[in-house]
Amino acid sequence: MDLGLKDKLAVILGASRGLGLYTARSLAAEGANLLLCARGREKLEEVADQIRSEFGVSVDTVAIDITDEASANAIADQAATLGGANIFIGNAGGNRRKAFAELSRTDWLDILSVNLLAHADCARAIVPQMSKGETGSILFVSSIFGREAGGKGLTLYNTTKSALISMAKIMALELAESGIRVNTIAPGSIRFPGGSWDRRCIENPEAMAEFVKQNIPIGRFGTAEEIGDTIAFLVSDRASLITGACINVDGGQSHSLI
Ligand SMILES: NC(=O)c1ccc[n+]([C@@H]2O[C@H](COP(=O)([O-])OP(=O)(O)OC[C@H]3O[C@@H](n4cnc5c(N)ncnc54)[C@H](OP(=O)(O)O)[C@@H]3O)[C@@H](O)[C@H]2O)c1
Repeated sequence: MDLGLKDKLAVILGASRGLGLYTARSLAAEGANLLLCARGREKLEEVADQIRSEFGVSVDTVAIDITDEASANAIADQAATLGGANIFIGNAGGNRRKAFAELSRTDWLDILSVNLLAHADCARAIVPQMSKGETGSILFVSSIFGREAGGKGLTLYNTTKSALISMAKIMALELAESGIRVNTIAPGSIRFPGGSWDRRCIENPEAMAEFVKQNIPIGRFGTAEEIGDTIAFLVSDRASLITGACINVDGGQSHSLI
């Protein structure tokens, strides 16, 4: 299936490693040009060089902290100089595992900022570029713990990931007339080299094997390639009827019926 992504410009937040990096690779494999964002400049440039030489697409970078208020306009301005974004992927995110009673206002503001506000600001800055094109697509990376309770210590993660799904749903309603689709994905436990699940598997393989057995019906962790490929389809015009949706990509891990 040709996804029709050739020469489209995709902006990806959090693209220097993990799910964002593999999403960049999936889109590049389909011929999309990229504007990649993360804080660490060196890693970002390394990844951009690799993708350029492997896939022959144009790759630009913006090394910036998306929690800085000015970053959204800086990213949108750079996308505008490249002809305007057709696709926006809000992937960067973080977690601070603490009991609710121990969370400070600073904890709240930090995680709200990186998991929700930065994505809202950036999407708002980029949408005017998209409404000038024929179609546009926005995708936010939530989590299965945006759709169901993740457990104790996950107040910030659960709350912000649920909020991202809510925001996307309302955006989808408001932007449909402009030809812009807005969706979220809800990954389960995804293992990639250097990621948090990988670290846990190396530190405690027996416990992680038991975790997989108890929690992931397909019997293995998800891969970042599987996330990247799902996102590539969802942001393409081949998914033209899908908007306002949250798609689980979790090997059956989640329990929610909706
Ligand atoms: N991995 C999983 O199993 C899993 C499961 C469900 C959902 N998710 C979600 O998927 C997304 C990606 O997860 P991941 O595991 O791939 O994360 P990761 O390995 O920690 O990568 C995060 C990316 O975001 C960038 N980033 C982080 N904070 C940033 C900031 N303030 N400004 C700009 N860039 C920033 C990082 O680069 P710099 O550090 O250089 O900025 C990096 O490129 C997250 O939203 C996460 O919640 C992951």
